[in-house]
Amino acid sequence: TGFTTLDQGFVNTASTKSAITYIDGDAGILRYRGYPIEAVAKNSTYLEVAWLLIYGEIPSESELSAFDDRIRRHTLLHEDLRRFFDALPHNAHPMSVLSSAVSALSTYYEGSLSVKDPEQIEMSIVRLLAKLPVIAAYAHKKSLGQAFLYPDNSLSFVDNFLKLNFGTMAEPYEVNPVLSKALDRLLILHEDHEQNASTSTVRLVGSTEANIFASVSAGINALYGPLHGGANEAVLKMLREIKESGDGVSKFVDRVKNKEEGVRLMGFGHRVYKNFDPRATLVKESADEVLEALGVQDDLLDIAKELEAVALADDYFAERKLYPNVDFYTGVIYKAMGFPPRMFTPLFAIGRLPGWIAHWREMNLDPATKIGRPQQLYIGEPERTWPER
Ligand code: CMC
Repeated sequence: TGFTTLDQGFVNTASTKSAITYIDGDAGILRYRGYPIEAVAKNSTYLEVAWLLIYGEIPSESELSAFDDRIRRHTLLHEDLRRFFDALPHNAHPMSVLSSAVSALSTYYEGSLSVKDPEQIEMSIVRLLAKLPVIAAYAHKKSLGQAFLYPDNSLSFVDNFLKLNFGTMAEPYEVNPVLSKALDRLLILHEDHEQNASTSTVRLVGSTEANIFASVSAGINALYGPLHGGANEAVLKMLREIKESGDGVSKFVDRVKNKEEGVRLMGFGHRVYKNFDPRATLVKESADEVLEALGVQDDLLDIAKELEAVALADDYFAERKLYPNVDFYTGVIYKAMGFPPRMFTPLFAIGRLPGWIAHWREMNLDPATKIGRPQQLYIGEPERTWPER
């Protein structure tokens, strides 16, 4: 019964109902649980927004402190999992490390991976939020050949993460509050974005009743691609190439317009936003503030600004409604903070984790959920006869 319509890339097809995030792409509106992103980003913390996304309301002070406390008490990785990193090459891309380690993480909790038991689900949520930043920091430390630090649970979520990345065994580490506030803000801006590719992946895997670790690990792999979360790393690569080529921004823009193989303006364009990406506006403000506060001068920021100006003045981009997206300026900020480009997409993953969790949980609690199973239009051979031998 019924008929099948082709919707390549799911441009018109809603895969679910959801009450978590609202986007109006034409008006440049993004709201978490009804709250405009601009207000959320100014007045909150990562964990507060995580709670809002997952449970639907702003947490009370006591709810938030209990949540924060519980997460702090679950930051340690099993010692055997610390050794898991020994088996990987030092130059492994941290996104591969992240997805593998999240899959591996679940093996330590096989007795509590039920997708039906609310207590086990809450426990898994806490474990994921607590341990993903530690895994990401270890992937970073591994690439530097430095010893892993143990989490310091006297520190806030973001401060702990900064210390795990930039602290060493040799010296005490003082968290710079400017850096901490800026990173918190960037993570908040990434926390949810409704049915993007990675979140849809988490939901699709979760719809099979696979556990939340398996679902999130799949989401991390979906985020890895340069058209999605990998764009932040790709933007920095592009800016560096423009700088090193000495050709100038206009030449590069011409190559994009000529659709030279593999040349796109990374950090531009969005499936949903067709006027501006409200996150990009907030990130651009942060870029100036953070670089100034950290006393960093970076030619790449100047190139990015020039590139944005040239592209926005060009009909090619206007006709196609291409504007800077959230990934355009984040890399320059992460670089100023001291992160290597390969850590940019893992930072996106830590940011997006609460969104993945919120969607997995929403789907899991919804009695109307069915296994995700798209249709196809078959274009292959009609029936053929297998040769007689
Ligand atoms: N540079 C140059 N041309 C572009 C770009 C770009 N970044 N994005 C789209 N176009 C052109 C595209 O060539 C096409 O032109 P034409 O009609 O002449 O063939 C037209 O714009 C429509 O593009 P599309 O590929 O159909 O658009 P889409 O909605 O399928 O893709 C996108 C959205 C984000 C994948 C795409 O804009 C892109 O590849 N951007 C660069 C990668 C990027 O920055 N990704 C991050 C997205 S935001 C955060 C996140 O999800 O991670």
